[in-house]
Amino acid sequence: MITLGIESSCDETGIALYHTGRGLLAHALHTQIAMHSEYGGVVPELASRDHVQRAIPLIRQVLQTAGVSLNKINAIAYTQGPGLGGALLVGASVANSLAYALDIPTIGIHHLEGHLLSPLLSDPAPAFPFVALLVSGGHTQLMRVDGVGRYELLGETVDDAAGEAFDKSAKLLGLNYPGGPALAKLAASGRAGLYKLPRPMLHSGNLDFSFSGLKTAVLTLVRQSEPDDQTRADIAYATQEAIIDVLVKKSRAALVQTGLTQLVVAGGVGANLMLRKHLSCDIEKRGGKVFYPDLEFCTDNGAMIAFAGALRLAEQQGSKDYRFNVKPRWNLAEIA
Ligand code: KG4
Ligand code: ZN
Repeated sequence: MITLGIESSCDETGIALYHTGRGLLAHALHTQIAMHSEYGGVVPELASRDHVQRAIPLIRQVLQTAGVSLNKINAIAYTQGPGLGGALLVGASVANSLAYALDIPTIGIHHLEGHLLSPLLSDPAPAFPFVALLVSGGHTQLMRVDGVGRYELLGETVDDAAGEAFDKSAKLLGLNYPGGPALAKLAASGRAGLYKLPRPMLHSGNLDFSFSGLKTAVLTLVRQSEPDDQTRADIAYATQEAIIDVLVKKSRAALVQTGLTQLVVAGGVGANLMLRKHLSCDIEKRGGKVFYPDLEFCTDNGAMIAFAGALRLAEQQGSKDYRFNVKPRWNLAEIA
């Protein structure tokens, strides 16, 4: 069975073909970073228009790469939410109109479920059950995952997401969108131990997070010192260190609380190499194991949507009514 996956929830058009049995056949991605960077962030209307331009050529490209003809596709999975309404509508309408023409089913996928299951695409893959740390631009959650669709929320951010903390602090340091990778790069030339930034809720006794105080602290530092390049790098270092410290300690606590040993990291912030280093070191020292998606599948991509679609379709029927309703706001707990 071959599933075509379409991701268009934000600023990346991702297309992939997943074969049950043979695995990922091909995938392609167009990122809109260059287009949005002029504006310092994602402009929703421009994002939608660009998805319109990219979706069909990218579908042609993955079919050609995989050597698969259109009529061999058995189902189409698309990101139904959460995300930008207009951007989601592009993927949903391409998916449903193509599926209608081919007389095959569609399935709407929760974007975070795509991220959550993406480490299963890697080798070695974790086995259920595991704890997942979901760290994207809009979400920071710890989930217990017992199987496809069996998700229990253990804790989440009460304000900013970890990705947002990276992005907003980066902006304060004069870095362009997307701030996460830019801040990580600047932090690489920063020195340790010069600034101590707050780690809110570190000792809250639960698995919730709070990151909004961090940007206020960064703002205060930036205003106080009118930083030169080295100081900016030192502040970036301290910012990244504070975010990572909280993510590592809460992840460790989630493993202790659930009695599980496997931790899966998913979402854009999971691409952060320093986070990977500290998490692996901390968790493995305690006998646990950490699994990451391949770097290219950490940030938004079509492979995770094709894959989640294939897993879902193994357990449930797709839809042939082709009436798509996207869900810009959609809680993962609703599909568990
Ligand atoms: O999962 P994702 O691609 O999109 C959403 O679903 O939100 O995550 C994007 C987030 C952004 O906040 C971005 O700055 C952050 O992931 N990010 C990083 C890195 N790469 C992406 N944050 C820190 N270090 C990175 N290397
Ligand atoms: Zn994402």
